[in-house]
Amino acid sequence: MQQAIAILDSGVGGLTVVKEVMRQLPQEKIIYFGDTARSPYGPRSADEVRAFTSQIVDYLIQFNPKMIVIACNTATAVAIEDIRAKVTIPVLGVISPGARAAIKSTRNGVVGVIGTDGTIRSHAYDQALTSISPGIQVFSEACPLLAPFVEKGLFDAEEVDAIVEKSLRSLVGKPMDCLILGCTHYPFLSHAISRVMGPEVTLISSADETAREASTILYHRGDLAKNGQIPVHQFFCSGDPELFKRIAQTWLKDQISIAPVVWQVP
Ligand code: SIN
Repeated sequence: MQQAIAILDSGVGGLTVVKEVMRQLPQEKIIYFGDTARSPYGPRSADEVRAFTSQIVDYLIQFNPKMIVIACNTATAVAIEDIRAKVTIPVLGVISPGARAAIKSTRNGVVGVIGTDGTIRSHAYDQALTSISPGIQVFSEACPLLAPFVEKGLFDAEEVDAIVEKSLRSLVGKPMDCLILGCTHYPFLSHAISRVMGPEVTLISSADETAREASTILYHRGDLAKNGQIPVHQFFCSGDPELFKRIAQTWLKDQISIAPVVWQVP
């Protein structure tokens, strides 16, 4: 049986990471869990997010994955060390890869970060950025209205521009040349975010860098799936499977057929 990369998120946002893993590692099997019944994690306490993440990892581990990717910034910010202490396989988050991608991209050393309340409050991006480049200047803003919009499948709705504009108002005009989308849901809204921030601000999604890191780690462990393998992915969610399916099918551009299985979270 082909061992999978397990990817988890508070909801549908981690599908942005799934898409990039599928593009870079098409032979890898993915098991995805989106906690759509309890999304968003952003406003929840750190203890609650740690508990939910731990429950999901307990569930996913029964499928014997070879790697876990926490494709949720809020969960990465507060739970990654607990999960690393709990399992014996590699555990990747999305914050360090996002910070690395921003440092590679910035020319003027001024970076913006948007995320959930939980992520911004944790200062995890500030720490990750300054640990790589101590002189970096960071402007952060919590955008709690955005992830719930994506969870409802409304990323093409007419109101998106107004909500994005309101959420980013304090960042417009700051001298940043790149903006980290510090929530895996935000790439769904990248056109609207780009319209507000302007063409001179490069948007950084951690998905690309996270998939690259997964590939490097699996390569060094001799764990990459064999070329030519055709993976059969599995999708789980805790909420409405039809809504999950519609969003996943739209985002993944019908590359695969998705029949999400519902896991009733404890
Ligand atoms: C959320 O659940 O609030 C958003 C997920 C994320 O932080 O990436």
